[in-house]
Amino acid sequence: MPVNKLIISLLKDLSKVSQETSNKVVREKVSKLMCSVLEADGCAVYLHHSDKKGLTLSKEDSFLKGLKFADSWQHSEWTLLSSPQYIHEPEQAKAFTEDISCQHCLILPLQLEEQTLGIVLVGWSKSSPVDDLSPEDYQILQVITPRLSDIFYIYPLLSHLTQREKDLATLYHKAVKDFEDNKKQISLELHDEVGQVLTSILLQLKLLQNSNDLEYIKGRLGGLHHITLETLEEVRRISQNLRPHLLEKLGLKAAVEVHVNEYIQTTGIDVELRTHNLGERVSEALENIVYRAVQEGLTNVARHSGANKVVISLTIKGNNLFLQILDNGKGMEKNHKDGIGLLGIKERVSRAQGKFWLINKPGLGLTINVLLPLA
Ligand SMILES: Nc1ncnc2c1ncn2[C@@H]1O[C@H](COP(=O)(O)OP(=O)(O)OP(=O)(O)O)[C@@H](O)[C@H]1O
Ligand SMILES: [Mg+2]
Repeated sequence: MPVNKLIISLLKDLSKVSQETSNKVVREKVSKLMCSVLEADGCAVYLHHSDKKGLTLSKEDSFLKGLKFADSWQHSEWTLLSSPQYIHEPEQAKAFTEDISCQHCLILPLQLEEQTLGIVLVGWSKSSPVDDLSPEDYQILQVITPRLSDIFYIYPLLSHLTQREKDLATLYHKAVKDFEDNKKQISLELHDEVGQVLTSILLQLKLLQNSNDLEYIKGRLGGLHHITLETLEEVRRISQNLRPHLLEKLGLKAAVEVHVNEYIQTTGIDVELRTHNLGERVSEALENIVYRAVQEGLTNVARHSGANKVVISLTIKGNNLFLQILDNGKGMEKNHKDGIGLLGIKERVSRAQGKFWLINKPGLGLTINVLLPLA
């Protein structure tokens, strides 16, 4: 085949190369294509790197049918080429490719905005079908080189950027999700910790409003002062680590006992705490869920039920931890408004693969049930 037909056929084939497939596949395919269309014994792509020694050309991709090209070499006058060059001289070709069997080679520069970024090197160990390149052939080669620059340089960059964009999108979605989860968590913590104490303060203030006994008022004010200081401490703690300190220090049973005693004192509601089999400390996560549920259940009783008696059962049954909070109040009204207290318990329990259910007996009271697998 005449030289120019050969080169035009190469141009046609290169134009069909799509950037859709993986870069490596495409680049290997192109090296192979160069060898087959130009009947060459090797094709390799070298890209410029600047390092301590100066500019180095390193082999990126290659398809070698017998020839062995150097992996890398220092910057030389050849690598500065800005237009295609064919080397007829076997001595020069051997020196250039660092393969003694190489007789001829074609160097196609990879250029981006007039800057040479690397080269595509094609070599022959015997005769080469492009031995007689005319000025027109060189012109066609000039058209081929930007196409090669796209394939070997621009497409990899694009693919790298696309992958980076995907990674950033994944990270962004994760960050947004984490942020939302944390917000939910903080909202629950504020509700459970600060909300409980403020409710207690409110109830005590109500008692004070109805009293004319100065001594009694003074005594209660001392208590309120104390609770307010505790609330401040609580807020500080929430902002520090968002974990209930009582629970951390004492463990579930003792922490619930302390909370129940404080509750009895501040609300005047009788609470019976029944625990069974609660020997060893259960996992931190479960302790947290149960403690929060007790806090919320008791607060709800004081706020909504009108009950004067609560029974809390906390037992380990088989592989489950069972919590029940039963009150003798009016029960949940049909048209009650949903808050985030019960929803919070429900969410925490479901995250721990547990079960949460209410038993509502209008006029007789409400029972909260929580079953949590220990494992
Ligand atoms: N022990 C109870 N007895 C009667 N009604 C209750 C009881 N517990 C909850 N409720 C009803 O269920 C509703 C929802 O309770 P939930 O704890 O989710 O929200 P809340 O207490 O109103 O507000 P918060 O978000 O501050 O907890 C309450 O508004 C109340 O009407
Ligand atoms: Mg509530």
